[in-house]
Amino acid sequence: MELKTPEESKTTLTDLVLPSETNPLNNLFGGELLARMDRAASIAARRHSRRIVVTASVNHVAFNKAVPLGSVVTVEAKVSRTFKTSMEIFLDVWIEDRESGRRTKANEAIYTFVAVDDMGNPVPVPPIEPQTKLEKDRFDAALRRKQLSLVLAGKMQPSEATELKALFE
Ligand SMILES: CC(C)(COP(=O)(O)OP(=O)(O)OC[C@H]1O[C@@H](n2cnc3c(N)ncnc32)[C@H](O)[C@@H]1OP(=O)(O)O)[C@@H](O)C(=O)NCCC(=O)NCCS
Repeated sequence: MELKTPEESKTTLTDLVLPSETNPLNNLFGGELLARMDRAASIAARRHSRRIVVTASVNHVAFNKAVPLGSVVTVEAKVSRTFKTSMEIFLDVWIEDRESGRRTKANEAIYTFVAVDDMGNPVPVPPIEPQTKLEKDRFDAALRRKQLSLVLAGKMQPSEATELKALFE
């Protein structure tokens, strides 16, 4: 299968925060942001694999910064690493200042998607080669994250999670 780069899957969703999408503090509701990230990640996974893709897990979400009503929010998704049938998608969330237009990082998240056939059975995805320093760092750490996710889901024995164990040795 053709070797691809993270940039080829890059997906950018920019949208406003409307009143119906906020919590009582007038900040973006967490579930709304999760949905936007899921959509962007799904498109990135589809661009990489050219297959039907499903969310297998949400490995990490950090709501570091509240996103106020009226903000312009940009969700950027890229495939950070592929395995056999699964893809790790890294998401960066930015808000932009109205006057200066400067972007500030608000949140980040990591999702895992699996490519499937028409019957929902997992199918192989193309390999990926990171290009930039950030892409290489994310690629390198992805195996640890996959092992942690599988251990927590009860799909891998902790003793088999070699990359993860190496962190504590
Ligand atoms: C995701 C799904 C296809 C995995 O099916 P499965 O029977 O577990 O298949 P496998 O065991 O072969 O796993 C397929 C891949 O997913 C990975 N995977 C499964 N669960 C995972 C998890 N919790 N975290 C990370 N990766 C996971 C496996 O490691 C494997 O990756 P690889 O082939 O790249 O090594 C299946 O669980 C599914 O269809 N789930 C529902 C998806 C869905 O509807 N999502 C929307 C939620 S509303």
